[in-house]
Amino acid sequence: MRQLQVLLIALCAIVATATNFGKRVRMEPDVSIFSAPNWAIGERVTDQDMITLRFVLRHESHKVAEFEELLLDISNPKSSNYGKWLTIEQVTEKLAPPDRNLFLVKEFLSSFGVTDVIVNSYRDMIRVEIPATLAEKMFETIMHKFQFVDSDITVIRVSQPYSLPEDIAEVVSFVDDLIRLPRFDTQKLTSITEEEALATSSWTSCGSSYSSYTNPAVLQERYGYPTLTSAASGNSMAVVEFQNQYYDTTDLQKFSSQCGIDTVTVSADIGTNDDSYCTGGFGLLSRCIESLLDIEYIGAVAQPIPLTVYYYSSYSLLDWIEDVSNDASAPLVQSVSYGNDEAQQTSNDYMYSCNTYFMTVGARGISILFASGDQGVWGREGTTGNVFHPDFPAGSPYITAVGGTDFVTKSTVGDETAWSAGGGGFSNTFPIPSYQSEAVASFKANSTSLPSSSYYNNSGRGYPDVSALAGQVNPYFISYKGGSFTAVAGTSAACPVVAGIFAQLNDIRLQAGKSSLGFLNQFIYQNADAFNDVTSGTNDDSESAGFTAIAGWDAATGMGTPNFDKLSALVASI
Ligand SMILES: *[C@@H]1O[C@H](CO)[C@@H](O)[C@H](O)[C@H]1NC(C)=O
Ligand SMILES: *[C@@H]1O[C@H](CO)[C@@H](O)[C@H](O)[C@H]1NC(C)=O
Repeated sequence: MRQLQVLLIALCAIVATATNFGKRVRMEPDVSIFSAPNWAIGERVTDQDMITLRFVLRHESHKVAEFEELLLDISNPKSSNYGKWLTIEQVTEKLAPPDRNLFLVKEFLSSFGVTDVIVNSYRDMIRVEIPATLAEKMFETIMHKFQFVDSDITVIRVSQPYSLPEDIAEVVSFVDDLIRLPRFDTQKLTSITEEEALATSSWTSCGSSYSSYTNPAVLQERYGYPTLTSAASGNSMAVVEFQNQYYDTTDLQKFSSQCGIDTVTVSADIGTNDDSYCTGGFGLLSRCIESLLDIEYIGAVAQPIPLTVYYYSSYSLLDWIEDVSNDASAPLVQSVSYGNDEAQQTSNDYMYSCNTYFMTVGARGISILFASGDQGVWGREGTTGNVFHPDFPAGSPYITAVGGTDFVTKSTVGDETAWSAGGGGFSNTFPIPSYQSEAVASFKANSTSLPSSSYYNNSGRGYPDVSALAGQVNPYFISYKGGSFTAVAGTSAACPVVAGIFAQLNDIRLQAGKSSLGFLNQFIYQNADAFNDVTSGTNDDSESAGFTAIAGWDAATGMGTPNFDKLSALVASI
């Protein structure tokens, strides 16, 4: 009888919390703009529109701090714990929010009749698929369809702030993707006249008509990596694609045969590829160019290391994070050409939660590389406000940001200079991490042309960490449109190249029975000599100010570009 009474009281308590979660709290309050360039607001949502949402639970700050310390230990080549990567279970044990919080969010969802929920392995993310009209009630907001101009691409997003009851807001960091409108990268397509192309005859490995284009042979000559004939057991690499970036095998074949390399192949797709899209009409969006560039070049650098392509049509970084969080054998190097300005719809809650996820990936022995952006210091917002606009995720301390260079002398394989549009600068969100504090201080002390301090945050994490060719002087040769050729520029070219080089470095370690390299930055900052220092060029994107590359680390090219001979000797020795 007594037990029954206790049970009844407990049941009443649950019912009470389920129906009253407290007064409303605005989520991601630092986001005030519910529109984005090239996105037109359309009709309000109807009952037929379904959306997939993720409730990202808050991590406890003391656990995050402890986890960060652990990551910095196991990814420090000087530590006796170097390379002792964690399993998914160990990450979960160390970081998962209290089960009570998960329970509370499930109760909240259930109070709206939503009981079909998917919890990720880390037990910190809940995915649901619900009618958009129900989401309007759940978040006390208004939702619309937004259409990207001149395209058939629509997404559903809020057109005003969203909120949660305070009990839920206390345990939920943010709900994705309600706010963020995708930013489509319009690649810097470059056409070289035939006269220009033929002016240089030395780069004929992809055909004499394309002799001024950066190609696999040029990269190999400059960075010095070998052509692999086999891959170490367990080695793997990946590129991550969003935003209608599919690929077609015709282009991979044409690229490979034109450049005289083994045919670049994809070993595994996560998400559905639609190769027919790559040969369709071209509007403002350059179809498949981003993904073909990524795949062609990571493949050219590091095949036959198995290559996985992640593809997400939903435009959310969280899709990828969730998959990696659930996959015990996720590829060991992941190249992501994706970014936005910290200030553009990218709330602090979003950035801090993503940053925590990046830490978990690094701690599992997986290296994440992000392109640093293609607008120099100015970001997508340009010169607005007369301040630099740092990029996210490039400004996260727990990923490796890859910037861009050009050859000092056009069509001469040799020293590099900063590409003027290569993303770089200092975060307004994340402070300077310990591993780069000396490098950043030296840069500020030694630069003779620092922009006025009013442009950037003196206490912010500096990026990029490393760089590679990306510029328009000798743009990358690619195959696209089902067998045509063109050339493109961007840090999205540099990123897969550097990722491929680190995949090769992992190969050396795995062959020797050593661990993968995991979170790379401490290794990079401890080994400046293993990079080709870039000491000229300014990433001002042809505007009034930027950072100039100098000896040592700088906020235009990081440590510089990979020197494979030196890197391979180093990774074999630790
Ligand atoms: C500068 O960066 C720090 C983090 O390092 C941040 O707390 C601060 O708000 C930033 N200042 C501005 C003006 O953005
Ligand atoms: C830059 O400044 C630091 C002091 O912060 C100094 O130790 C270093 O030698 C200088 N030069 C270079 C090339 O880093």
